[in-house]
Amino acid sequence: SERTLVIVKPDGYRRGLTGEVLRRIEAKGYTLAALTVQTPDRERLAQHYAEHEGKPFYEPLIDFMSSGPATFAIVEGHRCIEGFRALAGATDPTAALPGTIRGDLGRDWGEKVQANIVHGSDAPESAEREIAIWF
Ligand code: GTP
Ligand code: MG
Repeated sequence: SERTLVIVKPDGYRRGLTGEVLRRIEAKGYTLAALTVQTPDRERLAQHYAEHEGKPFYEPLIDFMSSGPATFAIVEGHRCIEGFRALAGATDPTAALPGTIRGDLGRDWGEKVQANIVHGSDAPESAEREIAIWF
């Protein structure tokens, strides 16, 4: 069945939201196939975020993502890519709807980068590419 890469980003880790995010994934009915906690290194982050290279938020994004531990999960289930992105909500946590992870648990902290708690792959090819980077 389908797989996606979920990251509870360093802001989520620091705020103690890892369990809450994983709880929501399991409550939705998806399976946790693999889990690891690590501080992402800049080299792998550059691969992971290659599509954003050159954008104004790219350097702050790499700084933020390498700022501390994050939890990486391989999540499995039919249509879990679309399903997790619905759970996560909009990229901007201020605009994300209540009921979503970012809408319920996130906000704008006035930083250069959107600290939005989670990452979820956006397509099957990205999921497999990203899983190969981190696992
Ligand atoms: P989606 O927008 O739902 O695809 O979420 P995403 O987490 O996949 O976002 P995307 O891949 O577009 O960007 C990666 C990360 O870069 C986001 O999660 C944010 O942390 C950050 N980011 C993206 N767009 C912006 C932006 O316009 N401004 C700022 N400051 N940060 C951004
Ligand atoms: Mg994305």
